Amino acid sequence: MSRIAYVNGRYLPHAEAGVHIEDRGYQFADGVYEVCGVRDGKLMDETLHLERLQRSLRELRIGMPVPLPALRHILRETIRQNRISNGMVYFQVTRGVAPRDHPFPKDARPSLVVTAKRLNEGRIAAAVASGVEVITLPDRRWARRDIKSIALLPNILAKQAAREAGAYEAWLVDADGFVTEGSSTNAWIVDREGRLVTRPAGPDILNGITRRVLLEAARREGIEVVERPFTPEEAKSAREAFISASSAIIIPVIRIDGQPVGNAVPGSTTLRLREAYSRVGELS
Ligand code: PDD
Repeated sequence: MSRIAYVNGRYLPHAEAGVHIEDRGYQFADGVYEVCGVRDGKLMDETLHLERLQRSLRELRIGMPVPLPALRHILRETIRQNRISNGMVYFQVTRGVAPRDHPFPKDARPSLVVTAKRLNEGRIAAAVASGVEVITLPDRRWARRDIKSIALLPNILAKQAAREAGAYEAWLVDADGFVTEGSSTNAWIVDREGRLVTRPAGPDILNGITRRVLLEAARREGIEVVERPFTPEEAKSAREAFISASSAIIIPVIRIDGQPVGNAVPGSTTLRLREAYSRVGELS
């Protein structure tokens, strides 16, 4: 079956879908995005993703491309037309098309693109079963990582460096020597006392939707949670480590910069949280 993409009011064959060469997303990375999981045909944590999208847009003074109910409909329709039951939907809003000039254009209309794809369930299951390796690298991003901007150059360079080192993800380290997050995931450890540790939300990290749901899941499970920064050294001597994102929820980390975490197998708290996630559902 051929894939379908939504572009500014039209559902088009994926291979033919495109935006104008002067779309500000294309020329300036002047836009934001969301990736929302689809399980059994339903959007996961939809409201939280839509709220974060609206927040990112407000921070950059980009308007909503369509009213919220219309956007919800377009997401569902894109999933339906692509017949996705387990996968993810990607949606991106840019400031629109205008002659290339740095200041905001006066009357550009925001562009909306929506695509959907199946999950590579085998790859995720294998990563969850075996755990993955991460490397640490300096965090070279801008100061507003809480905005889910499509400007991802430092993220993709870090991810590529990880892959070339045979690792799954790069954990980014700030100027003070603390882990901020992964190049496309939030970073977590379980310390020696069994407490769940992750960096507090703020401008230094993207406040992941999975992160928020997992914090709630942990509290419901009676797992003690501490939101504070941690160093790569602490992570290497932690009991467990893992990464979180909407695409795969949780993937255990078993090695950091080549050093084993615990016994170098997925940790029990990590796997317990993965189970607990599905019981939380959407936070209200
Ligand atoms: N990445 N941190 C960064 C830098 C991210 O790009 C992401 C998501 C996360 C996790 O956020 P969430 O739990 O809301 O997915 C944290 C998406 C999946 C991506 O870029 O494909």
